[in-house]
Amino acid sequence: MRLIYILPALLLTLQASAGEGMWLPHLLKALNESEMKSMGMKLKAEDIYSVNKGSLKDAIVHFGGFCTAEVISSQGLLLTNHHCGYDNIQSHSSLEKNYLRDGYWAKNTTEELTNPGLFARFIEEIADVSTDVLKGVTPGMSAAEKQSVIDINIRNYKSKFTLDKFHELEVRPFFAGNQYLAFFMVRYNDVRLVGTPPESIGKFGADTDNWVWPRHTGDFSLFRIYAGPNNEPADISENNKPFTPKHSMPISLDGIQEGDFTMVFGFPGRTDEYLPSIAVDQIMTHSDPAKIAVRDAALNIMNKYMRNDESTRLKYASKYATIANSWKKWIGEAKGLKSTNAVGKKKTFEAEFEKRAMKAKQYTGLIPQFNALYTANLEASLVRDYFSEAPNRNIEMLRLMGSLRNLVQTYEKSGEKDYLKMKDRLSAFMQEFYQDFSADIDKEIFVSLMQICRDNLAKKYMPASTEGKSFEVLGDVLYGASPFTSWEKSSAVLGKSPQECIDIIKNDPMYQMAMEWNEIIRLNVNPEFEKNRRQIDSLQSIYMKAQMELFPEKKFYPDANSTLRVTYGKVQGYKPKDAVYYNPVTYLDGVMEKYVPGDYEFDVSQKLIQLHEDKDYGPYADKTGKLPVCFLGSNHTTGGNSGSPAIDAHGNLIGLNFDRVWEGTMSDINYDASICRNIMVDARYVLFVIDKFAGAKRLIDEMKLVHPKGKKMKKKVK
Ligand code: ARG
Ligand code: GLU
Repeated sequence: MRLIYILPALLLTLQASAGEGMWLPHLLKALNESEMKSMGMKLKAEDIYSVNKGSLKDAIVHFGGFCTAEVISSQGLLLTNHHCGYDNIQSHSSLEKNYLRDGYWAKNTTEELTNPGLFARFIEEIADVSTDVLKGVTPGMSAAEKQSVIDINIRNYKSKFTLDKFHELEVRPFFAGNQYLAFFMVRYNDVRLVGTPPESIGKFGADTDNWVWPRHTGDFSLFRIYAGPNNEPADISENNKPFTPKHSMPISLDGIQEGDFTMVFGFPGRTDEYLPSIAVDQIMTHSDPAKIAVRDAALNIMNKYMRNDESTRLKYASKYATIANSWKKWIGEAKGLKSTNAVGKKKTFEAEFEKRAMKAKQYTGLIPQFNALYTANLEASLVRDYFSEAPNRNIEMLRLMGSLRNLVQTYEKSGEKDYLKMKDRLSAFMQEFYQDFSADIDKEIFVSLMQICRDNLAKKYMPASTEGKSFEVLGDVLYGASPFTSWEKSSAVLGKSPQECIDIIKNDPMYQMAMEWNEIIRLNVNPEFEKNRRQIDSLQSIYMKAQMELFPEKKFYPDANSTLRVTYGKVQGYKPKDAVYYNPVTYLDGVMEKYVPGDYEFDVSQKLIQLHEDKDYGPYADKTGKLPVCFLGSNHTTGGNSGSPAIDAHGNLIGLNFDRVWEGTMSDINYDASICRNIMVDARYVLFVIDKFAGAKRLIDEMKLVHPKGKKMKKKVK
């Protein structure tokens, strides 16, 4: 009540701006439905999420746990991004069957290719279990005490349900642990590759265009869920049949126009929208630049080898794309945080926060506490950044030593039986690892990244055995001596008696160096880091609660945590800089403008050139006769939203989310409605590629194509 008089002024600055927010599907009715309707939506909240009847959520899956996909036919056909299916496409590719380069289209269900390990998981129900989970938690408790009460409560809650192996229940914290939700899920483990365009469409523009608008990528691929004979979830089996879903999404042929309502429904991975200014400053000035520098060096080396040799390119393609993707995002993020003055804005907010806290006589002094903790933690967290990026990730041999350590520890602690089990798993993992590995490339990365660490870290954080040594010499010695640089050598070692194998591992100088470094981190970095981190986390939990209490006029949405969310906005262009406005739609003409014959990023296939010349677009062109490729919206998305459906006001599919614009990549930390845009492939381009480019009409025939804007369906699209 007492805040009502300041409402109008504050609304302007504090209200999550239209477009901002990753909302919980079961709360749409209470929080969002009226705003969504005012923006043009014709659906009701329960058409989007309902437990009792089929709703849009029944067509959405978490794809492998890292991307989103949607069901687009009554036979379980799944649409997701090309880059989400990339690893699987790569695993089916060889120099002879180069599906990455040439694309792949199964002619019938028998040709649809299985992908061990890949799953599609639906959400059946979301329930608020905060009362159960927070029962017995009191304000006076230490963070550790609190966590142990919560853990017990979660265990008790879960124990009320008996689940078979395909049904899962997860309880997850929201709003930094101030709320807990339970997710009931069902998982299908037989997900097969149905079709993919060649990289010259699915990855057109590759890394140069990644995170950038204007964009012309047909970033999609098709999979299919298979279920057991009675449509039940099942592991991969020859007896499985295409899955019949509760809901599949109709696809609109009418397309979009600037200003149209759009909604994106999927599994955003992680955002940090409620951090204090000092945390944002550290990301921008320390953490992002450190990680960027390490990856920069690793990527340059990989790139050099990949450009020289097609088989190396195939081996490293997926790995390279993943590393490059975050690398480029961090560059955009650090830039964007600076150019939008994110730290300054957070500081202004913090001043208002402190003012209100003083007035409320509660939550004062949080910001100075954050400042002290983050400052104290800076050194340790930077060391960890270098460590996690260099030996723990991009120098693959050193990373592998971590897996070997698990084997050694299993043998020494649990004995031979467990050792043998572990060895089998490790062998399978290593066999795959070496398929996409070159010791020469890795050695060069070793030399370069070790030098970066030496240049940036205090001596006490580097392995003493490397002191004063040239990394070139050291690289020759370690890679020359190690029995683990290839599968041939490794399998010989793993084939020996357990004791012999363990002795060989422990005598490998590469292993010894990795362990030395590990111990430095374990003993001299982690304890301090974790102590600070625990305090920061519990302070963040209080700060979150305080923000929600002291700013009752503001609508809060929880940070992304890989759970199902709805975000909505409009088809909208933006102004990236003075005097420049970016239109929200790109066309096939733009693909031809970017065409560079023979280029590894911008080549275009003859077939596509021909279709463009003939304007042979079937029913997929827009009113002016041009073929749309990608479009922009003001939907608030992040990594994990890849493959999420872009949905129109009526619940039809209009596109497929796959990226964000360069100027807005900082939206995970500081959303700015004026420049944050998500990038989607237009559904009509997807259909055009399947139909006209690939001739895969059997797939089009499965789908339901509609004209929501009233244009009469001429005849069934052939
Ligand atoms: N930037 C998009 C995402 O974050 C697309 C990444 C795939 N494309 C690529 N060139 N690596 O996942
Ligand atoms: N490409 C991202 C993904 O794989 C989505 C883009 C983003 O981060 O917004 O999920």
